[in-house]
Amino acid sequence: MAKTLLEIAGLRKTYGAVEVLKGIDCAVHEGEVIAIIGSSGSGKTTLLRCINMLEDFQDGTIRLDGEEIGYHVEGSTRRRKSEKDIARQRALTGMAFQQFNLFPHMTAAQNVMLGLVKVKRLPKGEAHAIALKWLDRVGLGDRANHYPGQLSGGQQQRVAIARAIAMNPRLMLFDEVTSALDPELVGEVLQVIKDLAAEGMTMLLVTHEMRFAYEVASRVIFMNKGVIGEEGNPREMFVAPKTERLAEFLKTSSFN
Ligand SMILES: Nc1ncnc2c1ncn2[C@@H]1O[C@H](COP(=O)(O)OP(=O)(O)O)[C@@H](O)[C@H]1O
Ligand SMILES: [Mg+2]
Repeated sequence: MAKTLLEIAGLRKTYGAVEVLKGIDCAVHEGEVIAIIGSSGSGKTTLLRCINMLEDFQDGTIRLDGEEIGYHVEGSTRRRKSEKDIARQRALTGMAFQQFNLFPHMTAAQNVMLGLVKVKRLPKGEAHAIALKWLDRVGLGDRANHYPGQLSGGQQQRVAIARAIAMNPRLMLFDEVTSALDPELVGEVLQVIKDLAAEGMTMLLVTHEMRFAYEVASRVIFMNKGVIGEEGNPREMFVAPKTERLAEFLKTSSFN
């Protein structure tokens, strides 16, 4: 069995008085591709954002490579780690969102280089070489000097993915990365994710693309109202759901 890379135990998150994650337990092994599915508002995005410490959380633990993310817990005291520690931990995960968030005044290569230079402090030449390598890997070797405005949505999303991967994360988080794309551009982005999965990248992937989840995921997690409603391998989940909730959800989603 591959080693456990991510371990979440008893994760609880509230916004004000509203509890949106109500005790999540989950372990992810190296090389696993986890598809996270579920209705809008079920807590999928919040879960990813907690893993990356873009959100504070009130209870439970998240461990990445054995290291506790975001908080020190000693006995009954729980303290947020220093911003410096959190920044270092955040760099262990890469994230891509529905919105690409590229800098419009920077070329594709400059967008990918930015974190390498500013966060990893690599010399520009080295950062540029890494950027070109990853742009090439996502099929954009000939677009390195284009600005986002000169690229299609699918190409921009591939730049955003290259930017995250170039930082050499231990874990990739994808949050509905194809939801803002025209249908004809979805395939090229999913193919990039498929290639990364085939190369052994560990990933959590929130998606509405049920067919894609079925094909690529090693395991599927169904989020329902802040808890894991059901999980299993794609075949079990999509072909023989155990819970009524999942069966209902699949009926209303686009698995065909
Ligand atoms: N910044 C926020 N402030 C208050 N409530 C929020 C915030 N972000 C999300 N929520 C609420 O948390 C719940 C889970 O949201 P989210 O994680 O975005 O769900 P999903 O990604 O599954 O659609 C929803 O009820 C949403 O309204
Ligand atoms: Mg979401």
